[in-house]
Amino acid sequence: MIQHDVLVVGGGIAGCRAALEMLRVNSQLNIGLVAKTHPIRSHSVAAQGGMAASLKNSDPDDSWESHAFDTVKGSDYLADQDAVAILTQEAPDAVIDLEHLGVLFSRSPEGRIAQRAFGGHTHNRACYAADKTGHAILHELVMNLLMKGVTLYDEWYVLQLLREENRVQGVVMMRIEDGHLEVVSATAVLLATGGYGRVFNTTSNDFACTGDGLAMTAQAGLPLQDMEFVQFHPTGLYPVGVLVSEAVRGEGAYLVNAQGERFMATYAPSRMELAPRDITSRAIGMEVRAGRGIHTDGSAGGPFVYLDLRHLGREKIMSRIPFCWEEAHRLLGIDGAEQPIPVRPTIHYCMGGIPTDIYGRVRLGVEGFVDGLFSAGETACVSVHGANRLGSNSLLECVVYGRRVGNAMAHYLSDSEDADLPGDRLKPSPLSDRSATDYLQAIEKRLNRLLTQTGSDRVASVRQSLQDCMTEHCGVFRHADLMTEGIQQLQNLRQRLTQIQLDDKGQCWNIDLIQALELENLFTVGEIIINSALHRQESRGAHFREDFPQRDDRQFLKHTLAFYHPEGITIQQRSVNLSLFEPQERKY
Ligand code: FUM
Repeated sequence: MIQHDVLVVGGGIAGCRAALEMLRVNSQLNIGLVAKTHPIRSHSVAAQGGMAASLKNSDPDDSWESHAFDTVKGSDYLADQDAVAILTQEAPDAVIDLEHLGVLFSRSPEGRIAQRAFGGHTHNRACYAADKTGHAILHELVMNLLMKGVTLYDEWYVLQLLREENRVQGVVMMRIEDGHLEVVSATAVLLATGGYGRVFNTTSNDFACTGDGLAMTAQAGLPLQDMEFVQFHPTGLYPVGVLVSEAVRGEGAYLVNAQGERFMATYAPSRMELAPRDITSRAIGMEVRAGRGIHTDGSAGGPFVYLDLRHLGREKIMSRIPFCWEEAHRLLGIDGAEQPIPVRPTIHYCMGGIPTDIYGRVRLGVEGFVDGLFSAGETACVSVHGANRLGSNSLLECVVYGRRVGNAMAHYLSDSEDADLPGDRLKPSPLSDRSATDYLQAIEKRLNRLLTQTGSDRVASVRQSLQDCMTEHCGVFRHADLMTEGIQQLQNLRQRLTQIQLDDKGQCWNIDLIQALELENLFTVGEIIINSALHRQESRGAHFREDFPQRDDRQFLKHTLAFYHPEGITIQQRSVNLSLFEPQERKY
């Protein structure tokens, strides 16, 4: 059995920033960081357009209050406003801090950190490194961490969160290289495992985004919050779905339908292409439904619209958004400086997640916390994004809450009287050798079952059916009948898990086995998403119900808490913090 003070699960920006902060507070902490890829290959590396902060470099009238209001309005008033105040107040300092860690942000002509426009933000406040902002941040964080001597378990897969009563004590994990299993005992565990884009069939997310941390939490009997809020990014490259950054529109590109119209004038006249993502994605969906989408031969009635950046000029394209140009060129052979780029909405982000307070402590339910368990980043739902996240607020959340939760965890682990974490703590009780052995045996049994079962199905075909089912039954436009049918289909599909035969029975780099484990997680997360969506009988942010097209604050200005049980999902509601702004009608 391995022992650590802290085990960070997830090597993306939130996990790395948290680990760094723990060491800043207490350099003696014994920290392990486990990730199923090398940390520099975490999905954070793919974040493109920027990180919001009211630095006022481009726009002196900006303020944290304005950033907070835009975020709350963007969230369709479901964000917890105390958490948003922290996010936006700490944003400028978090950016400067990153710069001090070595992150190379793009510069304005005067040499200050450059800031650009982003959807739903009323000021130019996205700080960026061309269109590779996540790459720039993640690399510096990982380099800093390696210098500080964190124990890195890269290419290990975490199989189970060890929860006993009201306390989390560690995990069971597997080294992918040779199938070796380990129990890790830790006084505190941080889950920062990112999102679940692979629940759907078209996504900007990496193959690794299979919702593992979310599923593990749900399977440990803990709730997931607001899982019905799934973000479609308006501009996924057609047909593959990879991200074409909102920065492209931030730099001035147009969205155009088959009739050559800038159709956003109909849906968000004051913000046009820089409306929030829920509105822009729905607008593209409406244009396609109305027959004003485009086919690959350029004729009307097809499944995509055009992103037109030709008027920006080659020089601006190559200096500000070179990666987006390169993607369209490499994948479709399109030169974006000469031709419009085909785009349609693609699953991008999970607004919901593991419910936490502003210190990252994981909630047990409507009341109370689990001792020893914390969460940060996309996996967590603190909740700063509510029903719809604004672009460039995600990197910000990872950095601000990564830092904040890292600080809280370091204090949680210290005996210091001035620890700023509220509430009582139980004394850590390390796992006994006996219970470690029991956990290992249970996991071995589960793996053996997967390795030895016979049948005619394969992981890839069941996964494809699951992704198609979720995309068809719980996409941009939702309806009770469609979702009820989807839930039934998922139940039938789940039966096929027992018919899967793995072709690889070995120990060494058994990706077939890893994908089978991920598939179980995709089912758990998918079932929670669709059941939460069925429960919310209103339209708010990214959740649009054709049978309930209005927002209903009286019944649903509440967070959804979904509890997973093998026999079905149960739902509770939790109140929203409204300490800054009164809910209003949301118009752009
Ligand atoms: O479009 C983008 O560059 C994505 C940014 C974000 O999701 O925050």
